[in-house]
Amino acid sequence: MPEIVIVKDKAEAGRLVADYLRERLVQRPDLVLGLATGSSPLPVYENLAAQQVNAGQSSSPGIFSRLQAFALDEYVGLPPGHSQSFQSVLTEQVVRPLGLLTENVHFPDVSAEQIQQAAERYEQEIEAAGGVDIQLLGIGTNGHLGFNEPGSSLASRTRVKTLSEQTRVDNARFFENVSQVPTLCLTQGLGTISAAKHLILLAFGKQKADAIVAAVEGPITATTPGSVLQFHPHATVIVDTAAASKLANSSYYLQAWNNKPDWQTI
Ligand code: F6R
Repeated sequence: MPEIVIVKDKAEAGRLVADYLRERLVQRPDLVLGLATGSSPLPVYENLAAQQVNAGQSSSPGIFSRLQAFALDEYVGLPPGHSQSFQSVLTEQVVRPLGLLTENVHFPDVSAEQIQQAAERYEQEIEAAGGVDIQLLGIGTNGHLGFNEPGSSLASRTRVKTLSEQTRVDNARFFENVSQVPTLCLTQGLGTISAAKHLILLAFGKQKADAIVAAVEGPITATTPGSVLQFHPHATVIVDTAAASKLANSSYYLQAWNNKPDWQTI
């Protein structure tokens, strides 16, 4: 069972996770961090970036100089450099503001002609870095984790997937209209994600309540990709009260404003 942490708002979640990451980086400067795209991890990235600015280090890597990072997934079919490619978004939101060294930040090669080979190479790159230490995650309204849509094998590895209509509609907010949202993506598999030592999933808003209750209190099934978290020895789910609103056992869970999360060290 993941550790569930209920927060008052996104800012509290951002602060909690960013503080934890900074602590871990002091202990392990060469930490390997898995980066998710989308709105959910933004409070974490914004908090980390704000502290860099406060420390007057926005253009130098400082504590991030040895951090290795791996993107969780990427659209397939967007022109290189497209503003909504996850590589462009993560470069704007994470790589530049934190001053990460570009050679330490890894993205899957979605322009490769042999894309399945590119997926296998990405798995090898993760392995060569010693595996992901901390993987940040969001969850789709349909329960997807990474871009592993419902029906994905719980043991799956990095590969090309077709995006569900629900996901394309949800992500249309980042494009002019839904027809511009790619139909394909390359995503780390649920088995790949599960190999990370610590999973931290963030979810906010009532539109995530069904996905959260299914993932953490429902049966473990490929129909609910997020349920793979229940198998993981060290998973933390950080939700605001709206995303937590359908949890039956919420009285058992930590309220971040009363207790500090029990982050185990990795
Ligand atoms: C993004 C990703 C997706 C998102 C999910 C939630 O890299 O893999 O699983 O985390 O679609 O998106 P947001 O956070 O925008 O609600």
